[in-house]
Amino acid sequence: MDQYAVFGNPIAHSKSPQIHSLFAEQTAQQLEYNKQLVETDQFAAAANAFFQGNGRGLNITVPFKLDAFEYADKLTERAQRAGAVNTLAKQDDGSVLGDNTDGQGMVSDITDNLGWSIADKRILILGAGGAVRGVLQPLLAQQPCEVVIANRTLAKAIQLVREFKDLGKIKACSFDDLPGLQFDLVINGTSASLAGDLPPLPDYLLSDNASCYDMMYAADPTVFLQWAMDQGAAHSADGLGMLVGQAAESFALWRGVKPAVAPVITELRKQLG
Ligand code: ATR
Repeated sequence: MDQYAVFGNPIAHSKSPQIHSLFAEQTAQQLEYNKQLVETDQFAAAANAFFQGNGRGLNITVPFKLDAFEYADKLTERAQRAGAVNTLAKQDDGSVLGDNTDGQGMVSDITDNLGWSIADKRILILGAGGAVRGVLQPLLAQQPCEVVIANRTLAKAIQLVREFKDLGKIKACSFDDLPGLQFDLVINGTSASLAGDLPPLPDYLLSDNASCYDMMYAADPTVFLQWAMDQGAAHSADGLGMLVGQAAESFALWRGVKPAVAPVITELRKQLG
């Protein structure tokens, strides 16, 4: 049977095997999907062993997305732009394609699953790390009015603008520059929520009918989503749908069939409690 797996370290917490099993069941695809703990200096050896057997595709999580980028024989445009790979797919000629489905996973969650629009909207992204780099190309492809990247370290936001400005209207600023500005969609891509922190955000940042999206997810609303509610956001969502969305994109790349995400999101949400 075709084998798939997620490589990471740590990996015990990964929901990918469950998500892909639900997709396989739903689309009547015959496959096996496991999680594999890989030693931090053993990525290439583990990937070689996997693809030499019945391995057809891998998901890659922390800390191996750059290793996977290096490992791939070919890269999709979006993986090249992201500078990171979260999906490897063995091709018929034996080569391994590297893709990055994180950004499209987030965009599909926002536009298809949540039904918010991105086109023509003023968008603020908080953070300028790997998570943000990974979503910029698919986000700009939706042709927002503008994307502003605010980051604690301004130089990193400026660097992202340099790399992505050919794809659309994009600007960098620091958190101090935000008072007086308003946005229709604010996306939190900082890792601050992990520590229960929130970047310093001014009041009145949200326009009427604004939406707030946190790339992180948790059983309870994240600090960013609590802020959004306090600020009167019309809509808000955490990143559980992004997790399922990126998995759906990987599944489609491997199997040529796109699973429905909504029932899987509902099932995972139930388990978060
Ligand atoms: P990831 O791969 O999750 O994006 P990362 O590349 O380390 O991780 O980036 C983390 C992002 O969260 C960065 O934009 C970081 O800001 P700096 O570039 O200034 O470090 C941001 N971040 C982390 N903790 C933060 C906090 N407490 N307040 C504001 N921004 C924070």
